[in-house]
Amino acid sequence: MSRFLIIYSTTDGHTRTICSQIASSIGAHGHEVDLRPLKDNGDIDLTPYDKIILGASIRYGKHQPEVFSFIERNLALLEQKESAFFTVNIVARKPHKNQPDTNPYMQKFLQQTEWKPDHLEVFAGRLDYPSISWRDRQIIRLIMWMTKGPTAKDTVIEYTDWERVRAFAERLAQNPTDH
Ligand SMILES: Cc1cc2nc3c(=O)[nH]c(=O)nc-3n(C[C@H](O)[C@H](O)[C@H](O)COP(=O)(O)O)c2cc1C
Repeated sequence: MSRFLIIYSTTDGHTRTICSQIASSIGAHGHEVDLRPLKDNGDIDLTPYDKIILGASIRYGKHQPEVFSFIERNLALLEQKESAFFTVNIVARKPHKNQPDTNPYMQKFLQQTEWKPDHLEVFAGRLDYPSISWRDRQIIRLIMWMTKGPTAKDTVIEYTDWERVRAFAERLAQNPTDH
């Protein structure tokens, strides 16, 4: 049995939902799993854990600054343990942009940090126009129009491939790398 820590950076909660799914898949293998939000002021002690998973969503082209400050503070421990990072974004709804080596936000992330996670993954996110502010809705609709996505104001679409989320969790639960 291993001890897993899953940490998430989310704005609207979808990354937390993905992390909960990963936690229950890993937990079903008999591993111990803790799920924690990443907050700038809250330090998380990584010492007790064997494996660390960090998931973060994109907003206006960026992962939240808390993601990078967390990595900076914990780089030594992250490097010692088996680790995974996944990014959640709407660009990943496009099949040619949904792999770690084809998703622009994953590529940018890897350039921005010294951390070299053992496992990388990209998940398409959720588009939920009714639940975001008027201003954000107008901007995202414009971006969607430019990228041939849905623009109807009442659109709610979950692009996330849950089978892929499960497969990622299975990989982490079953295939430890040497550390
Ligand atoms: C205001 C806003 C800005 C966004 N900007 C981007 C973006 O620049 N690129 C992208 O691919 N997705 C973008 N998204 C889509 C989010 O990444 C997607 O909705 C994701 O599921 C959000 O995850 P979260 O709920 O965990 O924050 C944006 C969403 C919102 C609401």
